[in-house]
Amino acid sequence: MHSIRKFTERARRWWVDRLDPNLEDFKAAYIQIDQVSGYLKSPMQERWFFNAARNAPEGAVIVEIGSFLGRSTVSFALGCKGTSKHVYAIDLFEGDGDMYGQGDFQQQFRGNVRRCGVESYVTDIRSHSLTVAQSWTRPIDILFIDGSHEYEDVKADFHAFYPHVKRNGIIAFHDIKGKWDGVIRYWNEVQRSGYLSRFGTVSSLGFGYKI
Ligand SMILES: C[S@@+](CC[C@H](N)C(=O)[O-])C[C@H]1O[C@@H](n2cnc3c(N)ncnc32)[C@H](O)[C@@H]1O
Repeated sequence: MHSIRKFTERARRWWVDRLDPNLEDFKAAYIQIDQVSGYLKSPMQERWFFNAARNAPEGAVIVEIGSFLGRSTVSFALGCKGTSKHVYAIDLFEGDGDMYGQGDFQQQFRGNVRRCGVESYVTDIRSHSLTVAQSWTRPIDILFIDGSHEYEDVKADFHAFYPHVKRNGIIAFHDIKGKWDGVIRYWNEVQRSGYLSRFGTVSSLGFGYKI
């Protein structure tokens, strides 16, 4: 039974790969992405970011809350290359207080973005997400929430930026599985909320489209 499921999953992936027009470009981009440390479940999640940016309309605005050293940022930004799409990376850049400790991470972030050759596609905003939301004006095509993983903070980030996301725009959450109870609780809530539809997951990444 187990081997049939494994075979079916491999066959499904084979078809997904054959039908993905961005696959070869992603493989080339991944060589750069993989030089940046971070927390993603690789390489599926990086591929989702890359494709989401690729498939977004010309001029798309991508907002990321929680960039850390830039692994998700450069995954989006490499998918923006050659277009007028742009990534706004919001972070306090003070470290994660977890695996990588505290410190000033902005220069490392910028170095990583520069090494990947995507400076012109990325604007970093060193501030608290809710402060940024107060003066935000650009309509958003893709919002990625990966800042504080506390329930109240995830919910606050969602509601602060939700009004700025375009209809049919994507809102994605990282860490909807595993030990992240706050994110899991809000992700379960948001699926019943009527704010989003057409939900999908890629490992611990969950996303939906604004109604
Ligand atoms: C899990 S890390 C992000 C990982 C990153 N997306 C990656 O690809 O590796 C979370 C980041 O969110 C930042 N952060 C947490 N709360 C924040 C807030 N309210 N506003 C801005 N940044 C925040 C932290 O500084 C940390 O760098």
